[in-house]
Amino acid sequence: MRVAIIGCGAIGSIIAKAIADGAVPAELVLLCDADRKAAEKVSGFFKRKPRIAESIEEIVNSNADLVVEAASQGVVKLFAPKILSSKKSMMLMSVGALADEKFFDKIKKVAEKKRVKLYLPSGAIGGLDALKSASAAKIYEVTLTTTKPPNALKGAPYLTEKGIDVGKIRKKTILYEGSATEAIKKFPANVNVAATLGLAGIGVKKTKVRVAADPSIDKNVHEIFARGDFGEFKFKVENVPSPQNPRTSYLAALSAIATLKKITSPVEIGT
Ligand SMILES: NC(=O)c1ccc[n+]([C@@H]2O[C@H](COP(=O)([O-])OP(=O)(O)OC[C@H]3O[C@@H](n4cnc5c(N)ncnc54)[C@H](O)[C@@H]3O)[C@@H](O)[C@H]2O)c1
Repeated sequence: MRVAIIGCGAIGSIIAKAIADGAVPAELVLLCDADRKAAEKVSGFFKRKPRIAESIEEIVNSNADLVVEAASQGVVKLFAPKILSSKKSMMLMSVGALADEKFFDKIKKVAEKKRVKLYLPSGAIGGLDALKSASAAKIYEVTLTTTKPPNALKGAPYLTEKGIDVGKIRKKTILYEGSATEAIKKFPANVNVAATLGLAGIGVKKTKVRVAADPSIDKNVHEIFARGDFGEFKFKVENVPSPQNPRTSYLAALSAIATLKKITSPVEIGT
């Protein structure tokens, strides 16, 4: 499998390292980052250096079989339709872009028409296997509670909108409660998992999200509660933040590696 990566930050560089180390049976053919230095650093992991693309267009026109997006929701919106149309499968990390139902339907149709796949890794959460099984019957409620150290929420549009200075938060504070659709707009770099959870369960609109800041923790904590005909489940993960980007959990990058392994393996475990 020939892979191209867009975005050589916290997630992209960990995925590339796994390919360079032979942990994933794939060849990295192209890298792209708005910051060329980031792409050069990642290219340095390889004996046989992947080419650095000058633009995402170059990836669209390449011979890659799979394009990994680990850049931004904007990149997904602008380029996923073109990349899928050029008969390449995609693995998306900026899943928040798919909270826009019209856009999601559009790229799903393109993937279907071109007979390629769209892979959405579990990211920073777990429990999606059980939720997908449960969604074969009725599900009544899915709630995600995300608690992060205040610093990890820095830069979220919601904080600017409300004039909240995270540096002044002294105790655990619930900042937001509402639909996943709104949460993704208000915390775009923090709750991509809300979109993945919504798409795996009862839809993004009906999925509820709570976002809290807690200065006493040093992990990104995600708790999922789901209730349906199957019964109910609770899932909690306390994620180590990635050293390169505190907003991103290490598990998110590991889930991308696991997805690449799943794609290339003859055996699939779990739902
Ligand atoms: N699904 C999940 O669970 C999950 C978890 C964490 C992060 N994410 C999302 O995954 C994405 C990557 O996360 P990260 O922590 O690696 O981010 P990061 O900021 O560490 O790295 C992103 C990289 O993409 C590059 N980039 C941005 N826009 C670009 C463009 N238009 N063209 C080329 N390069 C571009 C940046 O220069 C940067 O090097 C983000 O959108 C993030 O919100 C998803």
